[in-house]
Amino acid sequence: MTDYELIRVALEARELAYTPYSHHKVGAALLAKNGQVYKGCNIENAGYTPTNCAERTAVFKAVSEGVKDFAAIAVVGGMDDLKNLPICAPCGVCRQVLNEFVDSNEFRVLLAEVDGVDNLKAIQDSDIRISEFTLEALLPLGFGPNNLQM
Ligand code: THU
Repeated sequence: MTDYELIRVALEARELAYTPYSHHKVGAALLAKNGQVYKGCNIENAGYTPTNCAERTAVFKAVSEGVKDFAAIAVVGGMDDLKNLPICAPCGVCRQVLNEFVDSNEFRVLLAEVDGVDNLKAIQDSDIRISEFTLEALLPLGFGPNNLQM
């Protein structure tokens, strides 16, 4: 799976975002070390706080199926009428949830600006500009499972 392919899976996942309140649609594609890819979208709620982000949807799907070793996540997001997506970086809660399961110095976070989102099938690799970060860069000095070891 190439980085561009992973971004395309995130774009597909974004199509299913449930966003009647914010109209901000996010898609995530979480690549497990076993090669499996878990898709996630944001799922909003009339109570607002129960809203789940795309990244956490993907993580919870994987972990609930027994998969906890991850190599990378691709994230795309933007308002639902946009034809060109800006970069959408994971929120603090999602960074923390990812930090529970990965080595933050190795885990890759792929964020993409994408042109032509109104016609997903026509998107070329040249329409996708990827910025790559480690989780450590996005969550420096993160609190994690190691802090709770005796
Ligand atoms: N959202 C995500 O799903 N992931 C992010 O990385 C940022 C924000 C969602 C939550 C909410 O449904 C909407 O975007 C606006 O905050």
